[in-house]
Amino acid sequence: MKKLILYFLFILPYLIVGQELASPNGKLQMTFTLEAGVPTYQLSLDGKEVVKPSTLGLELKEMENLLDGFSIVDTEKSTYDETWNPVWGEQAEIRNHYNELFVQLKQDATERYVNLRFRLFDEGLGFRYEFPEQENLIYFVITEERTQFAMTGDHKAFWIPGDYDTQEYDYITSKLSEISSLMAGAITPNASQTPFSKTGVQTALMMKTDDGTYINIHEAALVEYSCMHLELDEENFVFESHLTPDAVGNKGYMQAPRNTPWRTIMASKNAGDILTSTITLNLNEPCAYEDTSWITPVKYIGVWWEMITGKSNWSYADVPSVKLEHTDFNSLTPNGKHAANTEKVQRYIDFAAAHGFSQVLVEGWNVGWEDWFGKSKDYVFDFLTPYPDFDVEGLRDYAAEKGVRLMMHHETSGAVRNYERHMDAAYQFMVDNNYNSVKSGYVGDIIPRGEYHYGQWLVNHYLYAVKKAAEYKIMVNAHEAVRPTGLSRTYPNLIGNESARGTEYEAFGGSNPDHTTILPFTRLIGGPMDYTPGIFEQDMSKLSSNNKSWVNTTIARQLALYVTMYSPLQMAADLPKHYEKHMDAFQFIKDVGIDWEKSLVLEAEPGDFVTYARKEKGTSNWFVGRTNDEQPRTSNISFDFLDAGKEYVMTLYGDAKDAHYKNNPKAYQIKKFRVNNKSKLSQYCAPGGGYAISIMEADKKGAKGLKRL
Ligand code: NOJ
Ligand code: CA
Repeated sequence: MKKLILYFLFILPYLIVGQELASPNGKLQMTFTLEAGVPTYQLSLDGKEVVKPSTLGLELKEMENLLDGFSIVDTEKSTYDETWNPVWGEQAEIRNHYNELFVQLKQDATERYVNLRFRLFDEGLGFRYEFPEQENLIYFVITEERTQFAMTGDHKAFWIPGDYDTQEYDYITSKLSEISSLMAGAITPNASQTPFSKTGVQTALMMKTDDGTYINIHEAALVEYSCMHLELDEENFVFESHLTPDAVGNKGYMQAPRNTPWRTIMASKNAGDILTSTITLNLNEPCAYEDTSWITPVKYIGVWWEMITGKSNWSYADVPSVKLEHTDFNSLTPNGKHAANTEKVQRYIDFAAAHGFSQVLVEGWNVGWEDWFGKSKDYVFDFLTPYPDFDVEGLRDYAAEKGVRLMMHHETSGAVRNYERHMDAAYQFMVDNNYNSVKSGYVGDIIPRGEYHYGQWLVNHYLYAVKKAAEYKIMVNAHEAVRPTGLSRTYPNLIGNESARGTEYEAFGGSNPDHTTILPFTRLIGGPMDYTPGIFEQDMSKLSSNNKSWVNTTIARQLALYVTMYSPLQMAADLPKHYEKHMDAFQFIKDVGIDWEKSLVLEAEPGDFVTYARKEKGTSNWFVGRTNDEQPRTSNISFDFLDAGKEYVMTLYGDAKDAHYKNNPKAYQIKKFRVNNKSKLSQYCAPGGGYAISIMEADKKGAKGLKRL
C-alpha cells in the first residue's frame, strides 16, 4: 500500500502537468513537467532514459530567483520541416525538421513570465528560456543559470577543464567519476590560466554510456549571453550549467524580451549521427545577409609556422623596456629575424600561385609587437602601420598580378576596446589594399576591466567584429574567441575559429595522438576550426634549435585532416621547402575540396578513429580521410557511396607498414586503383596515422593499366 501511495505521489505531477513530445522519427522522447512548481524535463532514446528528470531555472541578482513557484499558463505543440542551403558547408542541403513544445510559465507570487521552447529533432533536443515583454521583469542580471543535465550513470567522457579564457587543452578521456581527480593533471596551455573548479568542464562535452549510447551536450546561438560550462555533481552524475562571469562576478545583463542560447543534447546509438547532426546550425537564425556572393571558402598558406616554431619573429626589433607609447622605429635595430618581409612574402605568393592556393596569410606585418611585449597593451596595434620592411602596396599589386590575395592579420593582444576604436579604419584599409579575409586573435588577458574571453561582454564583441566586417565584405577567422555555436548559419562570413588546441601546440610540446579523433565530436560540433594542418616536418629542432617538440602524427594523417576536420578555411601550414621535398603527397592538399555537396561518416569512435567521405560541391570528386589514435588499426570501408555505373580512379595516400608517429612518420605510400561503387578497401593505419584518398571520375587514359579494387 505504502509503495502504491509513493508511486502515485511520484506519478501524480506527471498526470496533471506532464507534456510529452517525440522526435519526427519517434526515436527520441521528452517529457516536461512541473514538479512542485519547478520546471523539469527528461529525455529518452527508444524508451530508455538518456537524461533523468532535470530541473530548469535561473538565479537573479537582487531579485526573486526564477527557480520555482511556477504554474503553466499555456502549452502549444507544432511541427516544422524546411530545407535550406548554407553558403558553404558539409552538405549542400540541410533539413530542419523537428517537433516543438512551447510552454508558457508564470511565477505566481511575482507575476513574472518565463517561456520554455523545446525542439526535438531525430538526433537531439534543443531548448531555451525566453523572457517575453512584461511589466515585472524588464532589466535583470543573471547570477547563475541552473539548467541540469542529469546523466543516468558513470559515463565515459571526453572533456577539457572548465576555463573562462581558453579551450586550448588536450582532451582527457575518463569516467565522469574520475574528472575531479584528473583535473589537476590537465595540460594547461598557459600557467596563468587554470580550471575554475575541480568538476567544471567545457562544452561540447562528448560522452558514451556503458551500453553504447553516444551523448553530446553543447549550446547553439550564443548571442548576448555568457558561454556555458558544466559543473558536475560527482555523486549523482548531474551536470549543471555554470556561466562565465564578468569582471565583477555577474553572468548576464538582460533586458526582456530576450532569449537565452539553446541548450542542446544529442543522443544516438551511432557515433556518426553525432558528427552529421545539423541541430546546432538549425537552432540558429537564417542568414542575415541578402548578398553572400562575396563569401567564399579559402585554401591558404602563410608566413606563420616559422614564428610559431621559434625559427623567426613576429616583431621587427626587440624592445626590452616597458613603455607607454608607440615604438619609434628609427631608433631601433632590426632583430634580423622578422619573417614578414616583402621578399619572403613574394616567394609565398609565388608558391600559392603555382599550387592553386587563393590566399597568403602574413602575420607580423604591422607595428605593435614590440609595444605588446613592452606591456603597454592599450597603446598597442593600430592595424594600419606596416613595419619598414613590409611594402603594403607593392605586395597588393604583386599578389593581384598572380591571382592571389593576402590574408590580413589582426592580433588584438586582448586590447579589445583598442581594436574596436580602430576597427572601421582597419577594415577600410583592408578594402583599399584588396584584402577580403582577416585572421584575428585575442591572446592574453582581456583589457579593460579584466573581462574573461568567454563572458557576455566578449561574446558581444566577437559578433560585433563579424557584423562590422560584413559591412566591408570581409570574412573573419577569430582565434582565442569563444567556441562556435552554429552562428555561421546567420553570419556566414564567420568562416573559421580556433577556440581549441590547434596544430600550433604540436610546436609547443605536442598534442595527444588521439586529439583529432575527439575534436570532431567536441569542438567541431559548433562550427569549423582553423586547425592549420599539413605539417610534413615533425622534428621542430630542425626549424629552431631550442625547440624540442615533436609533431605527433604521420604525414598520411596530416593529409586526412583536410577531410576529417571540416572547415571552409583550410591552411597548408608547413613551410614551402618542406612541401617541396614531398610533392607527391602535397598533391592531395592541392586537390582536396573545401566545400561539400555531401558528407558521410564511414567509421567513427571518439578517442579511437574517424573516417569521413565527402563529395565536393560542383564536381564529381570524392575525398576520404581517416584519422587514427596511437593504436595500429585497420580501416574497412566500402565505396558504395559512389554513383552506380561509373568508373573512378582513386589515389590512396596511406601509412607504410613500418610507419609510426614517433619514429617513422614520413613513411607513406601512394597507390592508384580503379574503383566503382562495388569496391571495398581494407587499409592499415599506423599509430598516430591515417590515410587520405582522392577519387575522381576515370578518363580512359588516366585509368589505363590500373588495377580494379
Ligand atoms: C595565437 C594564434 O592561435 C596563432 O595562430 C597566432 O599566430 C598567434 N596567436 C599570434 O597572433
Ligand atoms: Ca591560439
